[in-house]
Amino acid sequence: METAQKVGGAGTVPAAGEISLGRPLIDAVKVEKSYGATRVLRGVSFQVRAGEIHALMGGNGAGKSTLIRIITGLTPRDAGDIGFASAKAGGSGPIIAVVHQELALLPELSVAENIGIVHAKSGLSQSSRRRMRDIALNALRLIDAAIAEEIVDLPARKLSLHEGQIVEIARALSTGAEVLLLDEPTANLTAGETAKLFSVLKRLARDEGIGIVFVSHRMREIRELCDVCTVLRDGVTVANATPLASLSDGEIVQQMGQSTHRSGPQLKRRQRSPEGTPVELVGPDSVRMEIRPGTILGLAGAPAGPTGLIDPLVGAGKGPGWRLAGDGFGESFPSPAAAARAGVGFVSGDRAAKGILSQLPIVDNVLAARRVRDKRRIVGAAERQECSDLVSALKLKAGSIWDLPASLSGGNQQKLIVARWLGLPLRMVVLEEPTRGVDIGTKHDIYALIREMADAGAIIVWWSTENVELLELCDVIFAFDTDGRPKGFLPDERFTEDGLAELTGMAA
Ligand SMILES: Nc1ncnc2c1ncn2[C@@H]1O[C@H](COP(=O)(O)OP(=O)(O)OP(=O)(O)O)[C@@H](O)[C@H]1O
Ligand SMILES: [Mg+2]
Repeated sequence: METAQKVGGAGTVPAAGEISLGRPLIDAVKVEKSYGATRVLRGVSFQVRAGEIHALMGGNGAGKSTLIRIITGLTPRDAGDIGFASAKAGGSGPIIAVVHQELALLPELSVAENIGIVHAKSGLSQSSRRRMRDIALNALRLIDAAIAEEIVDLPARKLSLHEGQIVEIARALSTGAEVLLLDEPTANLTAGETAKLFSVLKRLARDEGIGIVFVSHRMREIRELCDVCTVLRDGVTVANATPLASLSDGEIVQQMGQSTHRSGPQLKRRQRSPEGTPVELVGPDSVRMEIRPGTILGLAGAPAGPTGLIDPLVGAGKGPGWRLAGDGFGESFPSPAAAARAGVGFVSGDRAAKGILSQLPIVDNVLAARRVRDKRRIVGAAERQECSDLVSALKLKAGSIWDLPASLSGGNQQKLIVARWLGLPLRMVVLEEPTRGVDIGTKHDIYALIREMADAGAIIVWWSTENVELLELCDVIFAFDTDGRPKGFLPDERFTEDGLAELTGMAA
């Protein structure tokens, strides 16, 4: 790690072990970055101070992840300076730990190895392996004691997205770093795990003077956790380390250049079921769900998603329990392609592994569902127009539709896999966390589009870990507990956050 003497100026030198709060551990000055003709960071200055929890905010594509990658040296900058200083006397630069927006685990190594490898002193002797495993277990327990033992010896490739996220966070926490850079760490966590993470982070900032940078599109989390915020808008700093207490939600949203103004269809839940021939989902323990076309069914609770239900719905395998019955749907689809041709759309929660076609340009990604359905491949002028329309419907920020998806920010990649199902005549759409990483402004556009699809007669099956969004939009909610066991429908008179938390067994 680089060190820089210019940071902090000529203050008094703290005694050994003492922490000087408020001194910048990282001082980035006028950082510039362009990708081709796109100017991503246009002179961004950003400081991280000891003991603060600093929200880094901005819409999708504003430059947050790029700034984090530049600070850690993963991406080279075009211009600007970055200084590093340790708050601890005698230290060189601070140790910096990062949780990147997309998971970065070594798939063939075990969880213990992924977390503990940085602690292994010399080779991997028996005792050093045992020590590594202990470090990993302790770090995992900070976030989720229930799964720590279960996953510690598994190879990382066997983890669900949710478990992988916990491992990433545990690894960052275990390093004893003086600076933590967390790029949307909570996107795959349950409310309970998020609460645990927050209490750990608050303790680290308060008691140990750790400087923390936190990226999230959830205003509630920002308010609960952070002290100050820096807001980026199209690569420019529009608020710099401003105390959060001095800004209203509206002011922040406005600074980001977004609006939560809702246009289009009414986004309230429907009290009565629409007409139409129902489709039946039949689960284990004689659980039955009858859903009519036009209904938005929310699935809540299971932290990794109820795959046993979702997989058979989208032709991705016959789950152990659930099957589909009624109205010509048959038992299950032989493949996702067959499901797509029968009018069943699927937005996977694991966009990197199961959503994005990483070797194909944006245009092919957007048109993928149409290609499967119509068995066509060549992009003509009409299709180009269709692609552009879908891209603008979701405010998808892309350089060119011929670029690869890797050139998109996280939230914009998410919009890509949602866009491909828009405007198609669908009978059912299965959504796993469709708004994961999507900014505040576009979230409501996606909600409106989901409602539109339902109004056009599709059955919407929507799994989310964000109970609030389910409660806001779903007509009915079916709950699972944290182990994925079905718990039943949320009764109308209990259609609240408390009611849902109780039914899923996640009440605080
Ligand atoms: N490798 C790349 N090649 C080309 N353009 C890129 C590349 N990486 C990022 N960009 C562009 O830089 C801009 C900023 O991206 P960045 O990932 O920093 O956004 P972000 O603020 O993290 O957004 P999000 O909230 O969606 O994660 C985007 O418009 C993106 O298209
Ligand atoms: Mg990002």
